[in-house]
Amino acid sequence: MESPRWQVFADASALEEAAARLILDNARAAIHARGRFLLVLAGGTTPRRVYERLAAAAADWNAWRLYFGDERCLPAEHPERNSRMVRESWLDHVPLPPQHCHVIPAQRGAEVAARLYNQELEGVGEFDLTLLGLGEDGHTASLFPGQPWFCADAVAVENAPKPPPERVTLTPQRLARSRRVLFLATGAGKAAAVAAWRRGEHIPASRVRPEAGVEVYLDRAAAGEGTDPDWRPG
Ligand code: 6PG
Repeated sequence: MESPRWQVFADASALEEAAARLILDNARAAIHARGRFLLVLAGGTTPRRVYERLAAAAADWNAWRLYFGDERCLPAEHPERNSRMVRESWLDHVPLPPQHCHVIPAQRGAEVAARLYNQELEGVGEFDLTLLGLGEDGHTASLFPGQPWFCADAVAVENAPKPPPERVTLTPQRLARSRRVLFLATGAGKAAAVAAWRRGEHIPASRVRPEAGVEVYLDRAAAGEGTDPDWRPG
């Protein structure tokens, strides 16, 4: 597998603009080539402003198919649900058919939701683009340090260190089954995880290993400017 391709942006806004542009460019190429664009969405807070930029864009929304890299086991309308963040920041503002957004039914509990999402993913081939965030401990989606290896597409997580403890996540191999994988990390809080990753340490994010390698978009703070003595731009 190719090593990660790091790209450092002056600030979070520049990163968000570049990420939105990459998503829209990949969508146009995928729709032109195969008639559809299969996108895995990142949760957390980092991607919110990227989704807000997509809400202001023009795209062939009918051809988009959305999936989630993970979901928190909370009521469907809970303010901390990733699906609610995606809907409020983006989907409420564009004519993307709701049936094309495949939400993880995490309100039904991790085990049931993981089983149902595995069924939903049957017959879904390679994604076109997988978006992922990065936690301060190096986690991504709901793949946390110390978790065992998995042999399914979606699995239940019962003891996540990041609340809520109960989640559903796609596995590293299913997240990596994508033509392109893009990580987004901003803020000084991510600098230690990024530095560990760049040193070659096996953090959960580094377990997502598509053949073509991954792209990691960082702002200067997440890249370690001001905290990592080995920091170099670019
Ligand atoms: C979640 C996310 C999680 C997130 C990272 C980064 O459900 O919490 O999927 O993996 O991407 O924790 O979170 P922030 O973007 O909020 O820093």
